[in-house]
Amino acid sequence: MKETLAVYPGSFDPVTFGHLDILTRGLELFDKVIIAIAYNIEKQGLFTFEERKDLIQQSINGNNNVIIDSFDGLLIDYVKKVNARFVIRGLRAMSDFEYEFQMASINRTLNPEMDTLFMMTSKDYFFISSRTIKEVAAFHGSVTNFVPPPVERRLKEIFEKR
Ligand code: PNS
Repeated sequence: MKETLAVYPGSFDPVTFGHLDILTRGLELFDKVIIAIAYNIEKQGLFTFEERKDLIQQSINGNNNVIIDSFDGLLIDYVKKVNARFVIRGLRAMSDFEYEFQMASINRTLNPEMDTLFMMTSKDYFFISSRTIKEVAAFHGSVTNFVPPPVERRLKEIFEKR
């Protein structure tokens, strides 16, 4: 039987418990999920692609149903390349909605065969974002409740030198 596949794209700079929550729930719907780290021209990013990939790898405990990859260019082209149809995105609050609605609509116009599935982030994580976590870590606040231990360690290393 053919395996079902979804793409979970994002910047993952760095991966958070919010991302992992969406991933876990995505794996209840699909046999395999590709975490696709996007090169974003508007976002410089704190971590390199290799680091982001590494941190995700260390945070998923060797789950064979997760593939970690990166892509450059349009998401629709990547989704086509890997022969997927569905994209998963997490929705935290109303503030995410407009941006996500816009993205999903553009993507669907560019490729009507692709569909975006939204999942509401669990209540424990709806206020977490990679951006706010980096800010907390930059000022030496605790991020234990927001990110997996490998990410916490790496954030500490980066910001203790600054
Ligand atoms: O984690 P993020 O930064 O919210 O993820 C946004 C992402 C990477 C999913 C989005 O920027 C994206 O799909 N980028 C690839 C370029 C693209 O396809 N743009 C057209 C849709 S606006």
